[in-house]
Amino acid sequence: MNNAPIGLFDSGVGGLTVARAIRDLLPNESLTYVGDTQNSPYGPKPIADVRRYSLEVLDQLVEQGVKALVIACNTASAAMLRDAHERYDIPVLEVIQPAVRSAMSITRNGRVGLIGTVGTINSRAYDDLFSMRPEISLTTQACPRFVEFVESGETTGPEVLRIAGEYLEPLIAQDIDTLVLGCTHYPFLRGAISQIVGPEVALVSSDIETANDVYRLLTDRNLLRDSPLPPTIRYEATGTDTRAFSELANRLLGVDVSHVDHTPTGVIALPGTP
Ligand code: DGL
Repeated sequence: MNNAPIGLFDSGVGGLTVARAIRDLLPNESLTYVGDTQNSPYGPKPIADVRRYSLEVLDQLVEQGVKALVIACNTASAAMLRDAHERYDIPVLEVIQPAVRSAMSITRNGRVGLIGTVGTINSRAYDDLFSMRPEISLTTQACPRFVEFVESGETTGPEVLRIAGEYLEPLIAQDIDTLVLGCTHYPFLRGAISQIVGPEVALVSSDIETANDVYRLLTDRNLLRDSPLPPTIRYEATGTDTRAFSELANRLLGVDVSHVDHTPTGVIALPGTP
């Protein structure tokens, strides 16, 4: 089991920020990444649909024999926060709780901002968790165009800054000292977001916090990979245009993501165990 890959997924390229952070901390681990490009974007879709798509992808990853699941998508995490843990025998990690925990420990003035997709913001999943600390005031803002920008490879330029300014202005007006990037696509826009909110506002990003949780989980449960062979990193996309997915991933990550398998949802892919 230890040498099986970690399975993670997102609607598209956003979860690659989580994959990258896991690779930074755990370079000996094999990963199988699924971008559910056939159903992307998740943000504007009804939560019941997102839940269905997500469970289909997670079921497939479990069939492939992964040793742990990472829901590398806030919208999917919000849709399944309650039941994903009960459905599978292997550990399931998601991105919302680690980000909330980190923001709670970072804020000094108790004013936290949250940006995310329409689905994540409307689910109030973050609000529920922050309500455990009533002294913290949470201001939320949906940023629907951010995912569009990232999925089209546009992370710099005047239009990105203009839209970022519009979205973030109401949060700055609340005097936030901590901003949660509540969508795994947003770390690709970190430069623009940071430029708008300024250096005084701490950015909490679910990719790094989740990778810390994965590290802790594998260490605590003795699940670290112990094979002398190099780890395997596998990318799968559920949509047919796997070339577009791999080109975008190459461009955003600056690493070679040259091989992307097409995995229609509902069909089991090749075994992912090295
Ligand atoms: N990356 C996803 C998230 O963290 C969602 C992007 C989308 O498909 O709208 O919420």
